[in-house]
Amino acid sequence: MSITPADEVLSRTVATLRAAGCVFAEEEAQLLLEAAATPAELDALVRRRAVGEPLEVIVGWAGFCGLRVRVDAGVFVPRQRTRFLVDLAVELARPGAVVVDLCCGTGAIGAAIAARVPGIDLSCADVDPQAVRCARLNVGPDAHVYEGDLYDALPDSLRGRTDVLVVNAPYVPTDEIAMMPPEARDHEPKHALDGGADGVGMHRRVAAGAPAWLAPGGSLLIETSEEQAPLTARAMADHGLVPRVSTSDEMYCTVVVGTLPRD
Ligand SMILES: C[S@@+](CC[C@H](N)C(=O)[O-])C[C@H]1O[C@@H](n2cnc3c(N)ncnc32)[C@H](O)[C@@H]1O
Repeated sequence: MSITPADEVLSRTVATLRAAGCVFAEEEAQLLLEAAATPAELDALVRRRAVGEPLEVIVGWAGFCGLRVRVDAGVFVPRQRTRFLVDLAVELARPGAVVVDLCCGTGAIGAAIAARVPGIDLSCADVDPQAVRCARLNVGPDAHVYEGDLYDALPDSLRGRTDVLVVNAPYVPTDEIAMMPPEARDHEPKHALDGGADGVGMHRRVAAGAPAWLAPGGSLLIETSEEQAPLTARAMADHGLVPRVSTSDEMYCTVVVGTLPRD
Protein backbone atom coordinates (compact mmCIF):
# COMPACT_ATOMS: atom_id res chain seq x y z
CA MET A 1 0.00 0.00 0.00
CA SER A 2 1.46 3.40 -0.92
CA ILE A 3 1.24 6.46 1.28
CA THR A 4 -0.44 9.31 -0.62
CA PRO A 5 0.14 13.01 0.13
CA ALA A 6 -3.40 13.17 1.51
CA ASP A 7 -2.57 10.37 4.00
CA GLU A 8 0.55 12.25 5.05
CA VAL A 9 -1.39 15.46 5.65
CA LEU A 10 -3.97 13.53 7.66
CA SER A 11 -1.42 11.76 9.84
CA ARG A 12 0.54 14.98 10.41
CA THR A 13 -2.67 16.74 11.43
CA VAL A 14 -3.65 13.87 13.75
CA ALA A 15 -0.18 13.94 15.35
CA THR A 16 -0.35 17.70 15.95
CA LEU A 17 -3.81 17.47 17.47
CA ARG A 18 -2.86 14.50 19.63
CA ALA A 19 0.23 16.31 20.91
CA ALA A 20 -2.04 19.23 21.82
CA GLY A 21 -4.17 16.87 23.93
CA CYS A 22 -7.18 16.39 21.61
CA VAL A 23 -8.78 13.09 22.65
CA PHE A 24 -10.62 12.56 19.35
CA ALA A 25 -7.67 13.58 17.17
CA GLU A 26 -8.61 11.37 14.17
CA GLU A 27 -12.19 12.60 13.94
CA GLU A 28 -11.17 16.20 14.51
CA ALA A 29 -8.45 16.02 11.86
CA GLN A 30 -10.99 14.77 9.29
CA LEU A 31 -13.32 17.66 10.07
CA LEU A 32 -10.53 20.25 9.88
CA LEU A 33 -9.37 18.82 6.55
CA GLU A 34 -12.91 19.08 5.20
CA ALA A 35 -13.22 22.68 6.45
CA ALA A 36 -9.92 23.94 4.97
CA ALA A 37 -9.78 25.06 1.35
CA THR A 38 -5.97 25.30 1.16
CA PRO A 39 -2.94 23.89 3.04
CA ALA A 40 -2.32 27.34 4.54
CA GLU A 41 -5.90 27.46 5.80
CA LEU A 42 -5.52 23.97 7.28
CA ASP A 43 -2.40 25.10 9.17
CA ALA A 44 -4.29 28.06 10.56
CA LEU A 45 -7.26 25.93 11.65
CA VAL A 46 -4.99 23.33 13.29
CA ARG A 47 -3.11 26.08 15.14
CA ARG A 48 -6.39 27.47 16.50
CA ARG A 49 -7.49 24.01 17.64
CA ALA A 50 -4.10 23.25 19.21
CA VAL A 51 -4.46 26.27 21.50
CA GLY A 52 -7.85 25.09 22.70
CA GLU A 53 -10.43 26.87 20.54
CA PRO A 54 -13.54 24.66 20.32
CA LEU A 55 -13.60 22.53 17.18
CA GLU A 56 -17.23 23.49 16.58
CA VAL A 57 -16.38 27.20 16.48
CA ILE A 58 -13.47 26.58 14.12
CA VAL A 59 -15.54 24.59 11.62
CA GLY A 60 -18.64 26.71 12.34
CA TRP A 61 -21.07 23.95 13.25
CA ALA A 62 -21.91 21.19 15.72
CA GLY A 63 -23.70 17.93 15.06
CA PHE A 64 -26.70 17.78 17.42
CA CYS A 65 -29.64 15.35 17.28
CA GLY A 66 -28.94 14.69 13.61
CA LEU A 67 -28.85 18.40 12.75
CA ARG A 68 -25.91 20.53 11.71
CA VAL A 69 -26.21 23.49 14.09
CA ARG A 70 -24.31 26.68 13.30
CA VAL A 71 -22.02 27.77 16.15
CA ASP A 72 -20.54 31.26 16.13
CA ALA A 73 -17.52 32.36 18.19
CA GLY A 74 -18.54 33.42 21.68
CA VAL A 75 -21.68 31.26 21.71
CA PHE A 76 -22.05 28.15 23.93
CA VAL A 77 -21.37 24.92 22.02
CA PRO A 78 -24.34 22.54 22.42
CA ARG A 79 -23.32 19.44 24.40
CA GLN A 80 -24.22 15.91 23.31
CA ARG A 81 -25.69 15.08 26.73
CA THR A 82 -28.43 17.67 26.07
CA ARG A 83 -29.98 15.17 23.63
CA PHE A 84 -31.63 13.72 26.74
CA LEU A 85 -33.39 17.04 27.46
CA VAL A 86 -34.59 17.03 23.83
CA ASP A 87 -35.85 13.43 24.16
CA LEU A 88 -37.92 14.30 27.25
CA ALA A 89 -39.31 17.47 25.64
CA VAL A 90 -40.29 15.53 22.51
CA GLU A 91 -42.30 13.11 24.70
CA LEU A 92 -44.34 16.06 25.99
CA ALA A 93 -44.69 18.19 22.84
CA ARG A 94 -47.60 17.51 20.48
CA PRO A 95 -48.08 19.10 17.05
CA GLY A 96 -49.47 22.57 17.75
CA ALA A 97 -47.90 22.75 21.24
CA VAL A 98 -46.41 26.06 22.38
CA VAL A 99 -42.73 25.35 23.10
CA VAL A 100 -40.29 27.86 24.58
CA ASP A 101 -36.49 27.30 24.62
CA LEU A 102 -35.27 29.74 27.27
CA CYS A 103 -31.51 30.48 27.51
CA CYS A 104 -31.41 29.06 23.97
CA GLY A 105 -27.78 29.75 22.97
CA THR A 106 -27.51 28.52 19.37
CA GLY A 107 -31.18 27.42 19.51
CA ALA A 108 -30.06 23.79 19.15
CA ILE A 109 -32.64 22.43 21.59
CA GLY A 110 -35.58 24.24 20.01
CA ALA A 111 -34.42 23.33 16.51
CA ALA A 112 -34.08 19.66 17.47
CA ILE A 113 -37.56 19.52 19.03
CA ALA A 114 -39.07 21.25 15.97
CA ALA A 115 -37.35 18.75 13.68
CA ARG A 116 -38.93 15.83 15.56
CA VAL A 117 -42.36 17.29 16.31
CA PRO A 118 -43.62 19.10 13.22
CA GLY A 119 -46.10 21.90 13.77
CA ILE A 120 -44.98 23.15 17.19
CA ASP A 121 -45.19 26.87 17.87
CA LEU A 122 -41.56 27.54 18.86
CA SER A 123 -40.09 30.57 20.62
CA CYS A 124 -36.48 30.88 21.76
CA ALA A 125 -34.81 33.55 23.90
CA ASP A 126 -31.38 34.45 25.18
CA VAL A 127 -29.81 37.47 26.86
CA ASP A 128 -26.75 37.41 24.60
CA PRO A 129 -27.12 39.20 21.23
CA GLN A 130 -24.53 36.90 19.60
CA ALA A 131 -26.50 33.84 20.70
CA VAL A 132 -29.73 35.40 19.45
CA ARG A 133 -28.17 36.06 16.02
CA CYS A 134 -26.93 32.46 15.86
CA ALA A 135 -30.28 31.01 17.00
CA ARG A 136 -32.11 32.96 14.29
CA LEU A 137 -30.01 31.13 11.70
CA ASN A 138 -30.65 27.73 13.28
CA VAL A 139 -34.35 27.64 14.11
CA GLY A 140 -35.83 28.53 10.74
CA PRO A 141 -38.27 31.21 9.67
CA ASP A 142 -41.32 29.78 11.45
CA ALA A 143 -39.84 30.14 14.95
CA HIS A 144 -39.51 33.36 16.95
CA VAL A 145 -36.25 34.38 18.63
CA TYR A 146 -36.23 37.06 21.32
CA GLU A 147 -33.44 38.85 23.18
CA GLY A 148 -33.51 39.70 26.88
CA ASP A 149 -33.20 38.57 30.47
CA LEU A 150 -35.14 35.31 30.96
CA TYR A 151 -38.93 35.93 30.74
CA ASP A 152 -38.50 39.69 30.09
CA ALA A 153 -37.61 38.69 26.53
CA LEU A 154 -40.92 36.93 25.87
CA PRO A 155 -44.09 38.51 24.47
CA ASP A 156 -47.11 38.63 26.79
CA SER A 157 -48.99 36.44 24.31
CA LEU A 158 -47.08 33.42 25.69
CA ARG A 159 -48.23 34.00 29.29
CA GLY A 160 -50.23 31.06 30.60
CA ARG A 161 -49.98 29.32 27.18
CA THR A 162 -46.60 27.55 27.20
CA ASP A 163 -47.00 23.76 27.06
CA VAL A 164 -43.29 22.89 27.15
CA LEU A 165 -40.71 25.25 28.66
CA VAL A 166 -37.29 23.77 28.02
CA VAL A 167 -34.23 25.25 29.70
CA ASN A 168 -30.53 24.55 29.66
CA ALA A 169 -29.41 27.56 31.69
CA PRO A 170 -25.90 28.01 33.14
CA TYR A 171 -25.44 25.56 36.04
CA VAL A 172 -21.72 25.38 36.78
CA PRO A 173 -20.96 26.53 40.34
CA THR A 174 -18.84 29.70 40.09
CA ASP A 175 -15.81 28.15 41.82
CA GLU A 176 -15.79 25.17 39.42
CA ILE A 177 -15.49 27.20 36.20
CA ALA A 178 -11.70 27.36 36.62
CA MET A 179 -11.60 23.54 36.52
CA MET A 180 -13.47 23.23 33.21
CA PRO A 181 -11.61 22.25 30.01
CA PRO A 182 -9.97 25.21 28.22
CA GLU A 183 -12.53 24.99 25.38
CA ALA A 184 -15.19 26.10 27.86
CA ARG A 185 -13.20 28.07 30.41
CA ASP A 186 -11.32 30.24 27.92
CA HIS A 187 -13.66 30.35 24.92
CA GLU A 188 -17.24 30.32 26.17
CA PRO A 189 -18.67 33.41 27.84
CA LYS A 190 -18.88 33.29 31.64
CA HIS A 191 -22.56 34.18 31.50
CA ALA A 192 -23.15 30.93 29.57
CA LEU A 193 -21.56 28.81 32.32
CA ASP A 194 -21.90 30.51 35.68
CA GLY A 195 -24.82 29.24 37.76
CA GLY A 196 -23.83 31.10 40.92
CA ALA A 197 -22.42 29.79 44.21
CA ASP A 198 -24.19 26.39 44.12
CA GLY A 199 -24.89 26.37 40.38
CA VAL A 200 -28.65 26.53 40.86
CA GLY A 201 -29.17 30.29 40.95
CA MET A 202 -30.60 30.48 37.43
CA HIS A 203 -32.80 27.44 38.07
CA ARG A 204 -34.39 29.25 41.02
CA ARG A 205 -35.11 32.30 38.87
CA VAL A 206 -36.52 30.16 36.04
CA ALA A 207 -38.70 28.14 38.45
CA ALA A 208 -40.00 31.28 40.16
CA GLY A 209 -41.21 32.73 36.86
CA ALA A 210 -42.49 29.53 35.25
CA PRO A 211 -46.03 29.29 36.70
CA ALA A 212 -46.98 32.61 35.04
CA TRP A 213 -45.95 31.34 31.59
CA LEU A 214 -46.98 27.66 31.69
CA ALA A 215 -50.37 26.49 30.48
CA PRO A 216 -52.32 24.40 33.03
CA GLY A 217 -50.72 20.93 32.88
CA GLY A 218 -47.66 22.40 31.10
CA SER A 219 -44.11 21.36 31.99
CA LEU A 220 -40.82 23.06 32.75
CA LEU A 221 -37.77 20.92 31.90
CA ILE A 222 -34.39 21.97 33.28
CA GLU A 223 -31.07 20.24 32.58
CA THR A 224 -29.05 19.98 35.77
CA SER A 225 -26.47 17.68 37.37
CA GLU A 226 -27.21 14.62 39.46
CA GLU A 227 -25.85 16.38 42.56
CA GLN A 228 -27.81 19.57 41.94
CA ALA A 229 -31.07 17.82 40.96
CA PRO A 230 -32.57 17.87 44.49
CA LEU A 231 -32.00 21.66 44.61
CA THR A 232 -33.45 22.18 41.13
CA ALA A 233 -36.47 20.05 42.11
CA ARG A 234 -36.86 22.00 45.36
CA ALA A 235 -36.87 25.29 43.44
CA MET A 236 -39.73 23.97 41.28
CA ALA A 237 -41.72 22.61 44.23
CA ASP A 238 -41.32 25.95 46.04
CA HIS A 239 -43.23 27.55 43.17
CA GLY A 240 -46.07 25.05 42.90
CA LEU A 241 -44.68 22.71 40.23
CA VAL A 242 -44.66 18.95 40.75
CA PRO A 243 -41.06 17.84 40.07
CA ARG A 244 -39.78 14.52 38.72
CA VAL A 245 -36.07 13.78 38.30
CA SER A 246 -34.92 11.76 35.24
CA THR A 247 -31.35 10.60 34.68
CA SER A 248 -29.78 9.01 31.62
CA ASP A 249 -26.67 7.00 32.52
CA GLU A 250 -25.97 6.57 28.82
CA MET A 251 -25.98 10.31 28.07
CA TYR A 252 -24.58 11.44 31.47
CA CYS A 253 -27.47 13.82 31.85
CA THR A 254 -30.04 14.68 34.49
CA VAL A 255 -33.22 16.65 33.86
CA VAL A 256 -35.88 17.80 36.30
CA VAL A 257 -39.38 18.00 34.82
CA GLY A 258 -41.81 20.16 36.81
CA THR A 259 -45.49 20.07 35.90
CA LEU A 260 -47.98 22.81 36.67
CA PRO A 261 -51.12 21.19 38.13
CA ARG A 262 -54.27 21.79 36.08
CA ASP A 263 -56.34 23.18 38.97
C1 LIG B 1 -25.34 26.65 29.21
S1 LIG B 1 -25.69 27.75 27.88
C2 LIG B 1 -26.90 26.73 27.03
C3 LIG B 1 -27.29 27.19 25.68
C4 LIG B 1 -28.29 26.26 24.99
N1 LIG B 1 -29.49 26.15 25.78
C5 LIG B 1 -27.69 24.89 24.77
O1 LIG B 1 -28.01 23.95 25.49
O2 LIG B 1 -26.86 24.76 23.86
C6 LIG B 1 -26.66 28.94 28.73
C7 LIG B 1 -27.23 30.07 27.88
O3 LIG B 1 -27.97 30.92 28.78
C8 LIG B 1 -27.84 32.25 28.35
N2 LIG B 1 -28.16 33.13 29.48
C9 LIG B 1 -27.41 33.41 30.57
N3 LIG B 1 -28.04 34.24 31.39
C10 LIG B 1 -29.25 34.49 30.82
C11 LIG B 1 -30.37 35.29 31.19
N4 LIG B 1 -30.37 36.00 32.33
N5 LIG B 1 -31.44 35.33 30.37
C12 LIG B 1 -31.44 34.61 29.20
N6 LIG B 1 -30.41 33.85 28.79
C13 LIG B 1 -29.33 33.78 29.60
C14 LIG B 1 -26.40 32.35 27.88
O4 LIG B 1 -26.21 33.45 27.01
C15 LIG B 1 -26.23 30.98 27.19
O5 LIG B 1 -26.52 31.07 25.82
